[in-house]
Amino acid sequence: MINKSIFDNYNGQEIYKYTLSDDKLQADVITFGATVTALRVNTGDKWVDVALGFKSVTDQIAKGDYMGAIAGRCANRIEDGKFTLNGVQYQLATNNGTNHLHGGMEGFDKKIYSDSTEEGKLLLRYYSKDGDQGYCGNVDFTVVYSVEDGALNIEYRAVSDKDTLFNVTNHLYFNLNGESDGSILDNMLSINADSYTPDRPNLIPTGELASVAGTPFDFTVFKAIGQDINADDEQLKIAGGFDHNFCLNSNHAATAYSVKTGIVMDVYTDLPGVQFYSGNFLSGNVGKSCYKRNSGFCLETQKYPNAINQPNFPSVVLKAGEKFVSKTSYKFTLRNK
Ligand code: BGC
Repeated sequence: MINKSIFDNYNGQEIYKYTLSDDKLQADVITFGATVTALRVNTGDKWVDVALGFKSVTDQIAKGDYMGAIAGRCANRIEDGKFTLNGVQYQLATNNGTNHLHGGMEGFDKKIYSDSTEEGKLLLRYYSKDGDQGYCGNVDFTVVYSVEDGALNIEYRAVSDKDTLFNVTNHLYFNLNGESDGSILDNMLSINADSYTPDRPNLIPTGELASVAGTPFDFTVFKAIGQDINADDEQLKIAGGFDHNFCLNSNHAATAYSVKTGIVMDVYTDLPGVQFYSGNFLSGNVGKSCYKRNSGFCLETQKYPNAINQPNFPSVVLKAGEKFVSKTSYKFTLRNK
């Protein structure tokens, strides 16, 4: 089912909220940032909202931490906002120290999308002009959301009229205990990755694919997110917790569950990486609840950060006229508590 209502008015423009639902899951999605503002899971006796989010567009912009929004054109960091493509040097907007993060000052998380529906799916479209945040090429971008059998399905479609970079993600923060619980440290997690990409102190990958074996980054078997988060490990110190790209072994990227609610979330993607971020920079902003450090975690499916400057990482170049299509699903089920 799809239901449309008004979420907010921003700069004189109506921002709409769509609720996509089946008997297992309800997802609220707004036309600002193509942001998922709530994900309510049916646990049998009640609906539990597992997605952190804000109640207004102004709050989302001021305090948002990209919560539930689309990050793009290029998710995560590009070192110093610089890259060279087809022999031309580009300088992108820098909005995170000297780096470019999640598409720049006004990335895809802060755009207003046009909306339509088709066969039970929500299509949100944004036309990003040549030069937007320093990127080249006009990019016609659509994100398609649907809810089916307890899963939030996300499909990204894009086409550019010039060679450009493209690597979008959805930046949902989860707490499977419920978004108001305050801590994800007891959420159980497994990530289907034998290696990850360590960072330099500026959170740009060194380029190495390091084995997770014997390190706090080994999530190949379930463990609580908090189990090793304070271990004496250089990489955890650099990021203040987990904030790293994991190199996926297969399209079943990760599984998380809550012992308190019994909610299980499986993440599927056709992308090669997932950024596991333990909400280290959350600092008490008030949205639907108050979100402190570690009150939400992200599993942002993506190509690896700063890939354009790392020849050994999978390419993020989108060729002129080529159709970009990629799918990610967050599927919710229940286990015995
Ligand atoms: C990044 C974090 C960043 C956060 C912003 C994550 O994808 O990896 O370093 O602080 O997004 O909300």
